[in-house]
Amino acid sequence: MTRSILILNGPNLNLLGTRQPEVYGTTTLHDIEKMCANHAAAHGITVVFLQSNHEGALLDALHAARGTHDGVILNAGAYTHTSIALMDAISSIQLPVIELHLSNIHAREEFRHTSYIAPVALGQICGFGAAGYPLAIDALLSWLGAADA
Ligand code: DQA
Repeated sequence: MTRSILILNGPNLNLLGTRQPEVYGTTTLHDIEKMCANHAAAHGITVVFLQSNHEGALLDALHAARGTHDGVILNAGAYTHTSIALMDAISSIQLPVIELHLSNIHAREEFRHTSYIAPVALGQICGFGAAGYPLAIDALLSWLGAADA
């Protein structure tokens, strides 16, 4: 069966390209979506790419991923540092979730060093800019392949 990965992006990531380019680069979210679609096609997998500024919509998307996708790549934006609800959702859906950030959150302000996602995620990729997305796809596929073996 063709693998399917949900790539979920949280608040303010729709502004990539013009949002603090010195931190996040000039690549737009649409560019990242195209990059992920090309990467998925090269691997013969499906990716679904979503963005929402609303915590509840992100929760709904995580819940709906059960039975639909094999895993999730989540850039929860600032909700990473605040949302116990997202942490609980990840604990509840029984799917592998990779935490992703464009910037290196550990090299930034102290409040960004805390992640509610990290303790319940498969792993974390941060600091590689837009290139982190295809890296996360590769990491998830590799983990799924090992889990199957
Ligand atoms: C981010 C890092 C978060 O701290 C921040 O709130 C974001 C983007 C990143 O991709 O680097 O919105 O998740």
